[in-house]
Amino acid sequence: MPRCQYETMSTNQSVADVLIPQEQIRRRTSELAQEISRDYESQDLHLICVLKGGVVFLVDLMRELSVPVSVDFMATSSYGAATESSGVVRILKDLDNPIAGRNVLIVEDIIDTGHTLDYLSRILRQRDPASLRICTLLNKPERREVDIPIDYVGFNIPNKFVVGYGLDFGELYRNLPFVGVLKAELYQS
Ligand code: PRP
Repeated sequence: MPRCQYETMSTNQSVADVLIPQEQIRRRTSELAQEISRDYESQDLHLICVLKGGVVFLVDLMRELSVPVSVDFMATSSYGAATESSGVVRILKDLDNPIAGRNVLIVEDIIDTGHTLDYLSRILRQRDPASLRICTLLNKPERREVDIPIDYVGFNIPNKFVVGYGLDFGELYRNLPFVGVLKAELYQS
């Protein structure tokens, strides 16, 4: 039994526009991986993926990196089932391993208000990594409430409700291979 109306709709019916096609994501991910591999040449890199949204980008990005890579996961939530960030970040899952002395790169799917990354960066800096940088596939500058220095950005996007390639609405649509704009009637109803 579907839990709600949008579960009964196919993805094509739910997406108003493809904002970033699969091939464009693939090309940009490859460019970012080359840039990151150059920046960390002869060093080990510890990737921290912010679940759940960041996982699709992480697996594509890490396979293109040419430096030795380890990976750990953290889960946070600022949205819950809502479409607007609450501004209060909760840690749902902490890292498995210490990061002291390691070159850490946080991998995110999207930076919106900036609250999640602001909070995470402050927490992780207290754990004494050798370095801490941020890589995000998507960035929504218009929505920023907290200033965050971002080291690697895939795409700056307009203030639209996007899903796919890890991003969800009500936990659906993460599996879309592209970034699409959700039809407004789905989240306004
Ligand atoms: C999303 C996204 C970022 C955060 C960005 O996560 O993956 O972590 O919101 O928003 P902000 O810049 O306004 O803080 P969400 O809390 O929706 O969890 P999810 O990745 O599991 O969907």
